[in-house]
Amino acid sequence: MPGNASTHYDLLIAGGTVIDGTKAPRFSADIGVSGGRIAAIGDLAGHTAERTLDATDRIVAPGFIDAHTHDDQAVLSQATMPFKISQGVTTVIAGNCGISAAPLRADMDLPMPLSLIDAPAEGRFTTFAAYLDALRAAPSSVNVAAMVGHSTLRAVTMPALDRAASAEEIAAMQALVEEAMQAGAIGLSTGTFYPPAAKATTEEIIAVCRPLSARKALYVTHMRDESDQVMQSLEETFRIGRELDVPVVVSHHKVQNTANFGRSQVTLPFIRETMRHQCVSLDCYPYTAGSTMIRADRGMLEGRVLISASQPHPECAGRDLDDIAREWGVPKDEAARRLQPGSAVYFLMDENDVQRILAFDETMIGSDGIPVGESPHPRLWGTFPRVLGHYCREIGLFPLETAVWKMTGLTARNFGLHQRGTLAVGHHADIAIFDAATVRDAASYETPTRPAEGIDTVIVNGAITWRHGTHSGARNGQVITRQGTAVS
Ligand code: ZN
Ligand code: CU
Repeated sequence: MPGNASTHYDLLIAGGTVIDGTKAPRFSADIGVSGGRIAAIGDLAGHTAERTLDATDRIVAPGFIDAHTHDDQAVLSQATMPFKISQGVTTVIAGNCGISAAPLRADMDLPMPLSLIDAPAEGRFTTFAAYLDALRAAPSSVNVAAMVGHSTLRAVTMPALDRAASAEEIAAMQALVEEAMQAGAIGLSTGTFYPPAAKATTEEIIAVCRPLSARKALYVTHMRDESDQVMQSLEETFRIGRELDVPVVVSHHKVQNTANFGRSQVTLPFIRETMRHQCVSLDCYPYTAGSTMIRADRGMLEGRVLISASQPHPECAGRDLDDIAREWGVPKDEAARRLQPGSAVYFLMDENDVQRILAFDETMIGSDGIPVGESPHPRLWGTFPRVLGHYCREIGLFPLETAVWKMTGLTARNFGLHQRGTLAVGHHADIAIFDAATVRDAASYETPTRPAEGIDTVIVNGAITWRHGTHSGARNGQVITRQGTAVS
């Protein structure tokens, strides 16, 4: 608490209701910011500032942390990151689903889904250090913590991906993981659901991930199967975590295809039971449709399919696959093959499962947004306000303090983001100010790039980056590296 002497802050957020990201009940307080850090929280009447923001009738929360993104290239090529900043997101976890921006070679052709995020702003990065250096040299509007992707490692190491890696290839991948760890990667992700890594054995993954163990870096996975074999996939994931003795994150947890509707009643108790013995966390996006590369296998065409982007048929973006197939006079799977390569939105989940997984106390919020094309899944622009507006305020799935914790404090703890995710003196001043009564997602499947409503102000490391619907142009994001024991 400040003493009698008057302090002059860089920024004073006055009269707001603080939800601090720890799940503690809200309280009234002013917040003083100086040097990019939170300098004081309390009654700051009588103190001055370069700039004062009136936060009366507003919630003042930690900036949101997007637990699951594919923003690896977007933070360079779309550095102001309007689709995240406009939601109140101040930090993104990149490098998910086995896909990362580094290490890659300039001359290689990338298979789907690796090419999904490949929009190099300044050429490809042959080392993880070069990628993080580029981000430091040309900062984004958001903070970035990045992982190295196993499918990317396979693509850069193996001449053919339709088999398990040899001992030499595993050794080469291990060396690249070590380089990424030394550069500051916070973990490694896998995407064994996808063709480039589908043939990787559990043993290959454990061996490639060995360099994670010494640093207790994260193992994060888009599992082999989120459909009929979801329980076996969870078992494989937990086994990898145990053998490496590292924390695991189950990405975008879901149970998909109608035969599996309701199975979150089995997966969540299994996850909870496993949490008693090892470090496990999970994230989820608040929609019943997923989005990924166009593929006709694995039951992906069972429900409604919306095409987001197609290289051979760009004119089909935003259209229903059923309509395209009818127009072409071919079956749905044939139409899907003709549209490849590209990306699509797949309606394969049950609302009850989505709500059960979102409400599970350990579930973090992650968008899984794919920042490419004009018809993305609306989660890219809407995830966080949708949780605050639709699921918290309208449905009452959890209190606002819990909703905020799921997108801040919980995520910072699980990913080891030091001095972020909660509002406390000395922490980085990443702050989202919003109107709890009106915050809502405006992005829909029909209008997927409409910015959210009710996000008043977004501050990144002390810099006002979003205010009343306008981006300030500030690019004050930092590269967040692992606060490990083995590296400094
Ligand atoms: Zn994924
Ligand atoms: Cu993903």
